[in-house]
Amino acid sequence: MKHHYLLPDISKPGRVGCTLPSLDVPEGSRPPEELLRQELELPEVSEVDLIRYFTALSKLNYGVDSGFYPLGSCTMKYNPKWHEDVAKLSGFAALHPWQPEEQVQGALRLMHELQEYLTEVTGMNATSLVPVAGAHGELAGLFMVKAYHQDRGHKGRTKILLTDSSHGTNPASVAMCGMETGVVASDDKGDLDLKSLDSMMNDEVAALTLTMPSTLGLFDPKIAEIARLVHERGGLLGGDGANLNALMGQAKLGELGFDYVQLNLHKTFSTPHGGGGPGSGPVCAMENLVEFLPTPLVAEEKGSYRFVAPTKSIGRIASFYGNFGVMVKAFAYARSLGPEELKRISEDAVLNANYLKEKLKPYYHLPYDRTCMHEVVFSGKKQKAKGVGTVDIAKRLLDYGLHPPTVYFPLIVSEALMTEPTETESKETLDEYIAAMKEIAGDAAENPDILHSAPHNTPVRRLDEAGAFRQLDVRWEMNGKKK
Ligand SMILES: Cc1ncc(COP(=O)(O)O)c(C=O)c1O
Repeated sequence: MKHHYLLPDISKPGRVGCTLPSLDVPEGSRPPEELLRQELELPEVSEVDLIRYFTALSKLNYGVDSGFYPLGSCTMKYNPKWHEDVAKLSGFAALHPWQPEEQVQGALRLMHELQEYLTEVTGMNATSLVPVAGAHGELAGLFMVKAYHQDRGHKGRTKILLTDSSHGTNPASVAMCGMETGVVASDDKGDLDLKSLDSMMNDEVAALTLTMPSTLGLFDPKIAEIARLVHERGGLLGGDGANLNALMGQAKLGELGFDYVQLNLHKTFSTPHGGGGPGSGPVCAMENLVEFLPTPLVAEEKGSYRFVAPTKSIGRIASFYGNFGVMVKAFAYARSLGPEELKRISEDAVLNANYLKEKLKPYYHLPYDRTCMHEVVFSGKKQKAKGVGTVDIAKRLLDYGLHPPTVYFPLIVSEALMTEPTETESKETLDEYIAAMKEIAGDAAENPDILHSAPHNTPVRRLDEAGAFRQLDVRWEMNGKKK
């Protein structure tokens, strides 16, 4: 059956969508004639046309509730629906941020317990829940680094080192914080190159920020050595902990030598990622940075809860207390699972990624052939040699009804296919993806045109993706005329 995605396609002169009863009250006066638009051409459709139109539109959206979504670095896992119900309970959702503390003790207790919980999971000493995104948590961490060095009179420490595989928000956060970036190379195993770090780690460096596990999906086994080197030279070790889905219950970032870390509750803790918000990027700190955390934190004394400001806090970085609804979902997730189940999540996330890795490595180049963590990064290099780009592979996956992995990132892998299956996918779903990717590899060798012209089964074909994002224009048009 043909679906229409533009109302003008189905408009027929004189067709109406509803019948109003005849007027049984005096006719009111119309606005002045000059305010009335004569030329307004609205589509004329029946009610059922309109319902089918909107229903067809609603089905165009692809999400984790529709199918597999292995978008690397985004942890697009299935989140239990009842967590949304909990967050919507009026006792949480109808609170007003100006309510006095004594009226919102339950909410404060939830925030306090979540702080404690994240502190425990990361092996740190305190947590501020205020940042409202991962990048915002990164920025908060960098402000803390700046404040820490200023407090000690280290005025010359203005540089933040990052790795060449780091997430794009990492250098952006450094720029937002008004500091300089230095890029440390990765070695041939995909880990941080210690020699490169050694040569760069001088008294201008305020901190090294590392993503753990990295955006290559790898756990750097030299982490203790890295931490020692950074600390010996007077720097701090910051963590981008957005990939915590791989580590929960397995390793604590504080014990690995990190001084602070930001988490992405909207990746790991039951809030969908990728919808543009709301998010939550708590920042957790070791003892040396606790007093610099963004305000407020929630403190408990004899069973009563109140907001407090750390003594040297970097201050307020968001309105009120952060995204409370996201905190409620994270709390529900953590409490309903408990420590053992949480540990199993990261085990399964890692197992699923390694399953994909082993099954697909005969078909796609694997730049770092070693056990991966929650995601595996392939390269489409073999296919590229036959004239098929990674973008063609991604577009062809759409024909199978599957969301593609992240492509062309991390930047240090040419033709990258960054695949994060997450723990919520079954073996059957993974096998379906593997079968599709195998067929695509076969077509790249034998029948490349089918890839060059993909997608074939989607309502629209290839779009100017950057243009669609930057100049989004969803206005209705009749006969090509903008209204
Ligand atoms: C490793 C990593 N760091 C940072 C971020 C930034 O998080 P946000 O998009 O919430 O700003 C992400 C987002 O996916 C990420 O994967």
